[in-house]
Amino acid sequence: MTEVERDAELRRLAARLLDRAWQGAAGYCVPNRRSYPHLWLWDSCFHVIAWAALGDRRAVEELQTVFAGQFAGGFLPHIRYRDGSIRHRHRGPLAGSSSFTQPPVYVRALLAVRDAGMEIPAELLDRAASALDALWRDRLRDGLLVVVHPWEAGTDDSPRWDSWVGSHRWRRRRWTAFDREIASRAVYGADGQAIDSTAFVVAPASFNAIAADAARCLGDLLDDDTWRRRAGDLADTLDARAWDADQGLWWDVPVVGGGESCRTPTVDGVLPALCTANREHASTALDQLIDPARFHAPFGPRFLPKDHPWYRPRRYWRGPAWPPINFYLWLAALRQGRRELARDLAERTKAAVLRARFSEYWDPETGRGLGARPQTWSAVAVALGAAFTAESPGG
Ligand code: GLC
Repeated sequence: MTEVERDAELRRLAARLLDRAWQGAAGYCVPNRRSYPHLWLWDSCFHVIAWAALGDRRAVEELQTVFAGQFAGGFLPHIRYRDGSIRHRHRGPLAGSSSFTQPPVYVRALLAVRDAGMEIPAELLDRAASALDALWRDRLRDGLLVVVHPWEAGTDDSPRWDSWVGSHRWRRRRWTAFDREIASRAVYGADGQAIDSTAFVVAPASFNAIAADAARCLGDLLDDDTWRRRAGDLADTLDARAWDADQGLWWDVPVVGGGESCRTPTVDGVLPALCTANREHASTALDQLIDPARFHAPFGPRFLPKDHPWYRPRRYWRGPAWPPINFYLWLAALRQGRRELARDLAERTKAAVLRARFSEYWDPETGRGLGARPQTWSAVAVALGAAFTAESPGG
C-alpha cells in the first residue's frame, strides 16, 4: 500500500468510526459504547480535531456540546454522563458530571476548526477563555497549575503517581482503591468542582505544557497579550522548577504528598518542549524520541524507556503508546522545527492505529491493540500531517 492509499484508508475508517460513535441528539461521540459510554472532555476535543481534519462540521457541534457543560465559574468537568441524573460517588458529589477536569485541549480544538476553514462561533472563544481563566484562578500554585486527582492529568495509572500509591507493582484493585481514596480527599468548591486536596496535589509537566500551549494559542486567536504572558510565565516556571537534568525531561512537581516517583522518566515528560523557550532543554528531551534505548519503538513512542524496571508494554499507562500523547509529541516536534521527527511520529502513529484497529492504546513494540476497541480518539491520527503545518499550529 502506498502512503497515499494508506492515508485514504485511515480517513475512511476514522470517519466511519466517528460516525458510528456519534450521538445525534446529544451532539458528541462516545469514546467506546461499552467501556466509555459518556462524554469525556479531552476525548471530545480530540474528536473535534479529527472531525475538522475530515472536513466534517460535526467538529463545531461537538465543541459546542463540550462547552454546554461548562460550570458558571468556567470549570469544565472531565466526564459528563449521558443521563444527567447519574451520580458516581467516586467522582465527586455531583449528579450529571464528574467534579474533576482534564487537560485543556479545547483551544487546540478551536484552532483545528479554524484551520479547516470553519467559522468559530464567537461564544466559544469566550467560553474557552473562561475555562482557562478558571484554571489560572483555582489551580495556580507557585507559578504552576496543579491537579488534584490522577484522572485530571489524563494519564490515570502512570508510574509517576506510585509514591502516593505506595507501590511500584501495579494491581487493578490497589489502583481502584487509590482512586477512590483520592476522590474522597478532594476539596470541592461552591459549584461542586474539585479545587484542592488533602492528599494529592501535583503540578504535572504534561498538564502544564498543554495549558501553556492552550494559553499561547488563545493569545494568538484573541490577539491578547495577557494570555501570551501567562503562557510564557508557565513555560518559564516549568524550566525553572521542573527540569530534571539527570533524565533530560521535565518532571511532575509534587505539592501535597508524592515523592521520587514524580521523576519517573515517562514520555509525557517531553511535552513541555511544546512551550519552552529553552532550545537546549527541548532538544535534549525530543532526542529521546529517536533513541531506541529510551522512547523510540517500532510502534512507539513507548511510555517508559525500554530497560526501565517499571516498563510494561501492555499495562495501562505503564508502557503502551497513546493517541493523545502522540498527538502532542508531534505538535512539540513541529513547534521546535523538528520536521523529520514530526514526520516520523506521524507515520508511526498512523501505522500503529491501523494495525491496532483503532484501539484505545497499543503495545509500542508490536503494534498490538489494547484497551477498548475501537476507541474514537485514535481517529486523531488523521490530523497528523494533514490539517496542520509547521506554521499553523499556533507556531
Ligand atoms: C481513560 C484514560 C483517560 C481517557 C478515558 C476515556 O480513563 O486514562 O485519559 O479520557 O479513558 O477515553
